[in-house]
Amino acid sequence: MNTYRVGFIGCGGIARAHAMGYRGANNANIEFVAGSDLNPDGEKAQRLASEYGITLYGSHQEMLENEKLDLISICTWPKAHSEATLAAAEYGARGIMCEKPMAVNLEEADQMIAACEASGSVLAIGHAHRFSPQAEMARSLIQKGEIGTVSLIWGHCSLDLMNNGTHVVDLVNYLNGDVEASWVMGQIDRQKNVSGRGNHPDMVVEDMALGRVGYKNGVVGLIELGERAHQAYQFHVVGSDGIIDVNATDGPALKVLSAYRQRGWYAPELQEVFSFQSELEELVEAVEGKKEHRSSARRGRAALEIIIGIFESSARRSVIEFPVDVQDFPLERMIAEGMLSQ
Ligand SMILES: NC(=O)c1ccc[n+]([C@@H]2O[C@H](COP(=O)([O-])OP(=O)(O)OC[C@H]3O[C@@H](n4cnc5c(N)ncnc54)[C@H](O)[C@@H]3O)[C@@H](O)[C@H]2O)c1
Repeated sequence: MNTYRVGFIGCGGIARAHAMGYRGANNANIEFVAGSDLNPDGEKAQRLASEYGITLYGSHQEMLENEKLDLISICTWPKAHSEATLAAAEYGARGIMCEKPMAVNLEEADQMIAACEASGSVLAIGHAHRFSPQAEMARSLIQKGEIGTVSLIWGHCSLDLMNNGTHVVDLVNYLNGDVEASWVMGQIDRQKNVSGRGNHPDMVVEDMALGRVGYKNGVVGLIELGERAHQAYQFHVVGSDGIIDVNATDGPALKVLSAYRQRGWYAPELQEVFSFQSELEELVEAVEGKKEHRSSARRGRAALEIIIGIFESSARRSVIEFPVDVQDFPLERMIAEGMLSQ
């Protein structure tokens, strides 16, 4: 087993989940080395430092100059994801796990991919739900034809597109075999002057969002987010011969109705996993050239492209064809132009 020296940019809540994931990794010797944070004296950074024995810095440039790091977790608020990834790539990190959303616009996402290709760094995005056993099993059953030909994948959750929504869109992509989208139509609503919800204090957010995504295999994705959406982080896959429910609120994490098996609803057996551990073990495997990361930068960008497409469709009141040729964050533009509440 190889030894990897680990550092963090952003030392808040999710950095701790990454640290637990690294600590559990079964395929690497992990040395916790350093972390940088806007507020290194804050309670969250201090807690991470005391639990994992890392040196804290107030600037990631200073940390990267002083420490030898192999793997870097980027756990800042969204607007810093891109700049921190570029710095980690330029410094020559072998593996970078950047939290979701990958970036706040497609231009930044493309810069991140280009920088990591140039430096030979593996870049993965923290869409950890891809590693949940129910999602993994659902995808495998779909691919085996358990519910026939899939026509619709409906995903819904609370909060906004860039926060919980990026997980919802990414998981619809995952359940659909990561087939590319070809068009999207969307609508958003913003009546309140809202920014700074939870762990995205640097972003403006919509109150509600709805997206209909057409995939190249004919499947339709239906994305519902926000106050009046069904609040559970949940997915319903409709096929010609059955239905799969992921994260059913009224039962097991995975429920399947399969005409093909001529049986009523059943709940496949699932193994417990800690998805943050799985995504970081896979980062090690990707760095060692054993496989592409399940949540690669390319796939993170695919989720972001759909989200940007939903916003842009709402701005233009029309279907948006792929590739989405929009370089800014349309929600900010719509607010600045007076289309939506300040
Ligand atoms: N994968 C998941 O399931 C999941 C869950 C929660 C949060 N997240 C994501 O993780 C990111 C952070 O969320 P969190 O819950 O840890 O938030 P948090 O507020 O607990 O921690 C963020 C930390 O980053 C620091 N920070 C912010 N901008 C910085 C910058 N430019 N340079 C250095 N430090 C900076 C803050 O001071 C803070 O300590 C968000 O993008 C969020 O969407 C992902």
